[in-house]
Amino acid sequence: VSLKKYNTFGIDASARYLVEVDSDEDIQTLLQLPDVQTLPKLILGGGSNLLLTQDFNGLVVKINIKGISTAKEDRDSVWVRVGAGENWHEFVLYCVERGLAGLENLSLIPGTVGAAPMQNIGAYGVEIKDTFDRLEAVEIATGQKRIFTNEECRFGYRDSIFKNEAKGEYIICNVQFKLQKTPTFHVAYGDIQKTLDQMGVKELSIKAISDAVIKIRRSKLPDPAEIGNAGSFFKNPEIPADRYNELKAVDPEIPGYILSDEVVKVPAGWLIEQCGWKGKRFGAIGVHARQALVLVNYGGGKGNDIRQLAEKIQTSVEEQFGIHLHTEVNFV
Ligand code: EPU
Repeated sequence: VSLKKYNTFGIDASARYLVEVDSDEDIQTLLQLPDVQTLPKLILGGGSNLLLTQDFNGLVVKINIKGISTAKEDRDSVWVRVGAGENWHEFVLYCVERGLAGLENLSLIPGTVGAAPMQNIGAYGVEIKDTFDRLEAVEIATGQKRIFTNEECRFGYRDSIFKNEAKGEYIICNVQFKLQKTPTFHVAYGDIQKTLDQMGVKELSIKAISDAVIKIRRSKLPDPAEIGNAGSFFKNPEIPADRYNELKAVDPEIPGYILSDEVVKVPAGWLIEQCGWKGKRFGAIGVHARQALVLVNYGGGKGNDIRQLAEKIQTSVEEQFGIHLHTEVNFV
């Protein structure tokens, strides 16, 4: 089976088998089959944070669990439960339309709801851990259901238990968010306020913020439907403040977010741009012209070529700045 339409990079690798599941019970039944138990398995949501570097000699399980419902409500909050297979952006729009606040800054992020907690998706000053309540998952080894609370997910910057201790052990079936009836607006990050002003917004609303985020993302991030990509390919590195000050002495323009007295987070896109990679094209693949953190497949690119390009970028950033870039994308 070709996996081309199952990954936003548009890599034409194949899998030995592929099955789509649309309920928790489907997953439990599937996991009981002896043949399935012995096969290597790859669990797939929207395939938006994935680089396929070779064919997969196993079973791909595509999660299609749908449904959005209100689990409970009190004076201030609404708990919304969502199937893992729902499209993330459509779910955000669902909330924005109903005046449920908390996810509007996360508009237009590619992928599914079930994949969102894996890497604690974030953008424009908000991460899903800020509204995440809990999720239900099936343990692959036993077929048992289990709940993970916010704390149990051990969320970090683009990180969770599902990328660490529990890697490859669970299939996320649904996620519950706690959303607010009265919004707290997050407009401090980057160009949000500027974009709201340009749009002529006088009175802030979650709809206005969602629209602004969509506008910003469309202006710098490539649409995976047009150009294959997986969003940020690398994480933004956190470096010692001393090292940051040394770099700043050489180049006063270097951007940085101070995380504490000792640590500064530097945009990887800036480092990559300084090394001359921005907008560079190598046959079918390249570095996006408007955001150097994004590697792209113009069509027909191979996962391994993208991996090699990523390694060259890592080497040059290391040589020029002494900083190691960690990948955000998962390699298969
Ligand atoms: N910059 C450059 N050149 C570039 C790109 C960025 O100089 O080519 C510098 C600029 O100074 C810019 C700064 O980097 O002001 C920050 O850029 P941007 O706001 O685009 O954000 P980012 O740090 O590059 C992160 C996330 C994105 C998220 C944006 C907005 C990571 C790895 N990436 O990117 O997330 O959308 O912030 O919040 O943290 C993703 O994870 O896939 C993703 C797209």
